[in-house]
Amino acid sequence: MTMKSILALTVNGRGREDAVADNMLLYDYLRETVGATGTKMGCDGGECGACTVLVDDSPRFSCITLAQDCAGRRVDTIESLAQDGRLSPIQRGFHEALGAQCGYCTPGMIMASEGLLRRNADPSDDEIRAALASNICRCTGYVKIIEAVRRAAAETV
Ligand code: FES
Ligand code: FES
Repeated sequence: MTMKSILALTVNGRGREDAVADNMLLYDYLRETVGATGTKMGCDGGECGACTVLVDDSPRFSCITLAQDCAGRRVDTIESLAQDGRLSPIQRGFHEALGAQCGYCTPGMIMASEGLLRRNADPSDDEIRAALASNICRCTGYVKIIEAVRRAAAETV
């Protein structure tokens, strides 16, 4: 029988307490319990980065992270970025640099990029490439994605 226990954490700036199965993945918790459906599933195995969210500002693959491992932590998804209907700098960067085509990888790419910019406001191209090395894009290619992160950095430094 699956055990449930109370999970207390902060999601997108709001404190929550939910009864959550001990084996529930963070990905499923975010989409099914929180209702934050912006996070996408690609490989379901920790290999593509589509499901990336931030846990205490560090990128994590939500498809291989247990929700209960985030107890007491701060989880941010793509829904946390826009404020009052206004895109955040990294979202604007992807929009203006045409950093998305089908968009499936985009929430994960943006959250991995946001994590980079939170720890390094002015990254070099090599640092951007390294930060996005675990995120796969099948259709845009990476030149415009790197340009998107550069634009966001220029806006915030
Ligand atoms: S869906 Fe999580 S890494 Fe691919
Ligand atoms: S925009 Fe299509 S997979 Fe990246």
